[in-house]
Amino acid sequence: MASESVTIFLLCTIVIMVVKILMSFSKKKIYKFPPGPTPLPIIGNMHLLDIKRQDLTLMELAKKYGPIFTFHFGSAKGVVFVGYEANKEALVKAHYTFGDRAPIPISDNFQQNHGVIFSNGELWKVTRRFTLSILRDLGMGKRPIEARIIEELQFLCAAIQAYNGKPFDKKVLYLAAPNISFAMLFGRRFDYDNPTFQRMITIMDEIVINTGTVAAKYYNFFPMLKYFLKEPAFVMDRINQLNEILKVLFKEAKEVKSEDSFRTYTEAFFQKEEREIVADEKEKIFTERNLLASTFDVMLGGTETTSTTIQWCILFMMKYPHIQKKAQDEIESVIGLERPPRWDDQTVLPYCLAVAHESQRCANLFQYFPHLTPADVHFKDYFVPKGTLMIPLFSSVLNDETQWETPNQFNPNHFLDADGKFVKKDAFYPFSKGRRVCAGESLARMELFLFITGLLQKFTFTPPPGVSTDDLDITPEVVFTMRTKSYKVCATPRQEAV
Ligand code: HEM
Repeated sequence: MASESVTIFLLCTIVIMVVKILMSFSKKKIYKFPPGPTPLPIIGNMHLLDIKRQDLTLMELAKKYGPIFTFHFGSAKGVVFVGYEANKEALVKAHYTFGDRAPIPISDNFQQNHGVIFSNGELWKVTRRFTLSILRDLGMGKRPIEARIIEELQFLCAAIQAYNGKPFDKKVLYLAAPNISFAMLFGRRFDYDNPTFQRMITIMDEIVINTGTVAAKYYNFFPMLKYFLKEPAFVMDRINQLNEILKVLFKEAKEVKSEDSFRTYTEAFFQKEEREIVADEKEKIFTERNLLASTFDVMLGGTETTSTTIQWCILFMMKYPHIQKKAQDEIESVIGLERPPRWDDQTVLPYCLAVAHESQRCANLFQYFPHLTPADVHFKDYFVPKGTLMIPLFSSVLNDETQWETPNQFNPNHFLDADGKFVKKDAFYPFSKGRRVCAGESLARMELFLFITGLLQKFTFTPPPGVSTDDLDITPEVVFTMRTKSYKVCATPRQEAV
């Protein structure tokens, strides 16, 4: 009798288990990833990846697996989009489905889902909308900020002039753009030798370098490496130092606050903070934590990118003197050498505008910025789950040979038609596209055109004595961005032809 009960119990258990297994199978979604190299345990396909020039490895793999393929970054399964068509498909046509930010541990450690660049969900949506609307109200891409950029250009020219044609370090070219971000954030500029300014630039530089070392790049895919690497703690320490400086600047900004209107990003943020009413404290978005993170995004996002592009442009101008001369001739014949350039001049200075764009294309500042699928996604014949890493390879669009006549050459004609008129290019992707498109694009475009044109109006840039144009190295130094190698440059003041 007892053995019969045991048999019945066992049979029932087996039947229940079989039913459960069958039910789980029927519920299980059958995902279909694009083809890709076979992964190894734990490391996935990382053994195939040149960690510094991931773009070059991924473009090479696309020749074998096609423009959309699967790559295992350690245990994270990613879909890589290579070339103009594939990226248009993902970032423009299906931008929502690929629009979350992927985890980037080296930055997530300090941003912790705050700010705009590294956040997701409601906080990202509200903070991005707020940031865009305030930057627009403050004149991003419009007249008020244009005047600020032109004023800053004069300071930069004076700093260069002080070298009297002697060689100076490319670092000098970094100094102007931060002051445009500070104008927006705090309503002020800093003299270039101001110790607080110098300290902030040094800290930002250390962060850009240490978030982009080989170790930091591996850490982003294998976060358990945290305990063996110096970078995570070092970056956190510099963020803490920067935050202490920012808190003092916030305090100063608060003291000069006006009642009904705001003058700066910081002030607008404080007003929101005061008015935010939520049932649960935890739902608050306009907190000091988020102000620090958002300020960091606007500061670093707006500084490293623009300044590095200016450094690239001046390097290209030294390397290709005939292109520099052509831009200078255009400036001289259209606006002369005295009146500073204005934003409206883009229409009458198409060659200079093309030089600014081509500098951005060749600078190729970000190989990619990783995204994540916020939900299960169907695209083409594929079906990938929520949380899949998505890699829009900007480098591959900026170098796509179906879109650019001479992708590997610095050639401003890429942006000019047969009559020398400026033409917009759909494959111009340095700011990305779609839902996560750069929030400072219009500001950056204005800064680049005015700074580059203004510098070429006032100076001719040449390599230091003893350095030939052939010696100038235009291969990038890969950190968090793709910087130029360090260089020195001579600037000779230009004079009106008589
Ligand atoms: C040459 C200049 C610049 C370049 C090449 C550049 C490029 C980029 C790229 C590639 C992204 C990532 C887009 C993506 O995830 O798909 C981005 C995001 C962002 N950029 Fe820029 N940027 C520049 C200037 C600026 C400036 C001046 C600001 C500040 C006002 C700024 C603020 C931001 C912010 C806040 C984001 C995050 C957008 C989001 O995730 O929703 N950037 N930028």
